[in-house]
Amino acid sequence: MPLPALIPQPQRCTPLDGESFVLDAATVIVTPSAFAATAQQLAARIKQATHWSLPVSDSVPAVAKAVIEFRLAQPPLASPEAYTLRVTAGRVTIAASAPAGAFYAVQTLFQLLPPAIFGHTPQPGLKWTAPAIEIEDAPRFRWRGLMIDSARYYQPVDCLKRFLDQMAQHKLNVFHWHLVDDQGWRLEIKKYPKLTAIGSKRRESPLGQRTAELGGDGVPHEGFYTQAEVRDLVAYAAARHIQILPEIEMPGHAQAAVAAYPELGLLPQAKEVSCNWGIHETLFNTKPATFKFLHDVLDEVIALFPFAYLHIGGDEAVKQQWQQDAATQAHLKQLGLPDEEHLQSWFIRQIEAYLQTKGRRLVGWDEILEGGLAKTATVMSWRGIEGAIAAARLGNDAIMCANQNLYFNFHETETPETEPITYPLPLPLAKVHAYEPIPAELTPEQAKSIIGVQGQLWTEYIATPSLLEYMAFPRTCALAEIAWSAKDRPGFADFLGRLRTHLRRLDVQGVRYRAPLEYLPAP
Ligand code: ACM
Repeated sequence: MPLPALIPQPQRCTPLDGESFVLDAATVIVTPSAFAATAQQLAARIKQATHWSLPVSDSVPAVAKAVIEFRLAQPPLASPEAYTLRVTAGRVTIAASAPAGAFYAVQTLFQLLPPAIFGHTPQPGLKWTAPAIEIEDAPRFRWRGLMIDSARYYQPVDCLKRFLDQMAQHKLNVFHWHLVDDQGWRLEIKKYPKLTAIGSKRRESPLGQRTAELGGDGVPHEGFYTQAEVRDLVAYAAARHIQILPEIEMPGHAQAAVAAYPELGLLPQAKEVSCNWGIHETLFNTKPATFKFLHDVLDEVIALFPFAYLHIGGDEAVKQQWQQDAATQAHLKQLGLPDEEHLQSWFIRQIEAYLQTKGRRLVGWDEILEGGLAKTATVMSWRGIEGAIAAARLGNDAIMCANQNLYFNFHETETPETEPITYPLPLPLAKVHAYEPIPAELTPEQAKSIIGVQGQLWTEYIATPSLLEYMAFPRTCALAEIAWSAKDRPGFADFLGRLRTHLRRLDVQGVRYRAPLEYLPAP
């Protein structure tokens, strides 16, 4: 019996003999109070697709023919995200130890039903069957992330909500939100209104990859998220068991902030919010007033985002401005530090200490290893895997974000002429799917420091939500398998087979994606 087309592939699937479950207008949903919110989400999705209002009850009515029953797992399951799902004629039984597990069971149940379950229009004559099966499932990694860069191009909140919907369906649980960069500051900070009044606007954006050749587009770009919008998005994510990791870049990628408040920088005349891509020289200075500013900003960020982690960037901070600034050099000497790498490390440790007083854990890109890693920092290894190896050997946690495997803004093929304008580095779907996040260099004990894996969508060349989806899918479907499925998950050919059905689910939801080249007939 073929297995159903589930993505990500669950840990264990056992097809059962016997009839399928048939969802109909008389189906009853039964749940203990612990899973009532999830049961209501299930009923809401069924209502959207079928227009049936199924009752959600705390006990099985005597007459019900078809029942979807949630239970607290006995004995409890090892992970709050784990679940079991048993589908037989007349009954679906979901068992979990926590709401997250029940939620993921429901995501799997949706994939057992016809793709139209993701739609909004009743399908006359469609039989809502789910095959008889027993599934035992739990995630391989606890950090299953996707990063979106909202600084280079602002995305409307609705675009981000669509991504959160997809993340939930793919059992991803951390939305890393890149909110500030040289080209834009996109988060409302009440105490520093110029961050958005000035920092969220740029004159224009580069045309193509080589600005020098093509120039700018002459089109102003702006946008920011109000604190009310952020609270709404955080709640929307939480309802889908997704935490939002805000990223506030320092000490580099600071040009929009310094354009708004020149006293934070190192030049007598601050540069404008950048209209170019690439690595910039603008740094924050290391004065006490700048740390006061950063603390104030972080206070507001902490109040908005309940996640235990907070990302402070730390990448690509070229040190030229610190080298050339007499006051910074005097500060460096006064601290007894040998060079600017150590000054960056000192900078990050100051912020780490501050975050610790607020009960938050610091995350940074792998450059935060340079000059000495802060004790409790979590490292996002993006320039390959070396950052993760170094962090794990120091006993720090690490998340695999390796650009050659997980930067979904890269080209998908080796033929740039068939690609949108973006980074001309090929990252085919097969290469994403083949990625093994645990570096072979680590001992089993060190490997425990690799807490997860994350895909990245940098948006220098992704100006629209539609192109963002096109770059993200189906590579994000492959990410889901790396992050959730077992290490010995089925191979790429099997994935491609399941993906055919899965893309129909995306079709129903109007999600734009790139059909795999492998589906094309051989030339
Ligand atoms: C990065 O791509 N600069 C983290």
